[in-house]
Amino acid sequence: MEFTKKNRIRGEVSIPGDKSISHRAVMFGALSQGITEVTGFLQGADCLSTISCFNRLGIEIENTPSKILIHGKGLHGLTAPTEVLDVGNSGTTTRLISGILAAQPFETTLDGDASIRKRPMKRIMTPLQMMGADIKSQLDNGCAPLIIHGQALHGIHYDSPVASAQVKSSVLLAGLYAEGVTSVTEPVLSRNHSEIMLQYFGAKVSSEGTTATIWPEPDLVGQKVNVPGDISSAAYFIAAGLLVPDSELLIKNVGINPTRDGILKVALAMGADITLLNENRDGEPTADLLVRSSSLHGTTVEGALIPTLIDEIPIICVMAACAEGTTVIKDAAELKVKESNRIAVMVSQLSAMGVDIVGTDDGMIIHGGKPLHGATIQTFMDHRIAMSFAIASLIAEGTTTILDHEVVNISYPGFYEDLGRITQ
Ligand code: S3P
Repeated sequence: MEFTKKNRIRGEVSIPGDKSISHRAVMFGALSQGITEVTGFLQGADCLSTISCFNRLGIEIENTPSKILIHGKGLHGLTAPTEVLDVGNSGTTTRLISGILAAQPFETTLDGDASIRKRPMKRIMTPLQMMGADIKSQLDNGCAPLIIHGQALHGIHYDSPVASAQVKSSVLLAGLYAEGVTSVTEPVLSRNHSEIMLQYFGAKVSSEGTTATIWPEPDLVGQKVNVPGDISSAAYFIAAGLLVPDSELLIKNVGINPTRDGILKVALAMGADITLLNENRDGEPTADLLVRSSSLHGTTVEGALIPTLIDEIPIICVMAACAEGTTVIKDAAELKVKESNRIAVMVSQLSAMGVDIVGTDDGMIIHGGKPLHGATIQTFMDHRIAMSFAIASLIAEGTTTILDHEVVNISYPGFYEDLGRITQ
């Protein structure tokens, strides 16, 4: 698909539902008694993978355009699937569902696409095995396919070497079934949607600092969940509004949970003009974001901020490329094991557009301010790479061609239509 430079961005955009929260609503709804009604559910391919896995585990889910209804069967209501569970491209589905499946009275095999077969799964296998799980990598390479033979589990305290909500959530979900209490301490706090939503469904969960603790065998009860817009998807429009001259854009109903709002902190530190309107702090906090064109300057992105913006680093690189001065991103080695190696891909593809960027072991260094020019962009089948370069193309001279552009359907079906509506 071809893109060209734009003069301005105007209007408003409503961002589709949060991917992390949508996955969790299906999973926790399935493990609850009664019906869970979800509005604002993200109809992206990743979340549809979670629905199809729970369908195969015997859960009826009605998916209509206005809402989804999950007919939960309680903690012990899942039934043995007759086929392999296909997780598609979704790391969240794979890692979270593994924690649940580790405790079921049946065997399951999980498999997905070429990307998922390269993502590291030892990070969940290790703590789940410590809890008594029988979980194996079929090819013995620490990746999917995974074969999980359900077992009786016992609670552990796990000191996670990585700040990962997927690891934390996998262990906490196994903890729902374990004998005794289960807790996870992370080096730095990762997104806390599981803790918030599990508690909302009736689980006993506590959070203190970077430690989350769960007690087993709660009576989970179906709930109404209204999924806020995904700040990770809003990030592309935040960047577009800031970078394209003469722009003013209202981005509506964006989730601003403090474990996810690092993009706002970084943008403000770079000199962005962003105003939060209509803040709502009931449950998962939300706000509308009013974004205006801004002259950005370089910054350092590191430490405890990293997990709060881990998926936004590709688009932060684009912002840094347009900012005066140097931006340093460090402590972000996790980027190498996302849907693609996002350090290598951002370095090679931004370089192709004329950006001065070098990769490091745990991040990148970008000397911003040079004009960008169009190029043919390889997405490596990574949705966030495709969307980042669609935004870069708005400020690049000439034509930018994005290969495999439809990969955005993983997290944002309708992305190009929404972008087309606000660009002039
Ligand atoms: C997610 C956690 C993050 C994030 C991913 C979604 C989640 O992954 O990158 O897109 O929903 O828990 P890690 O836990 O691997 O950091």
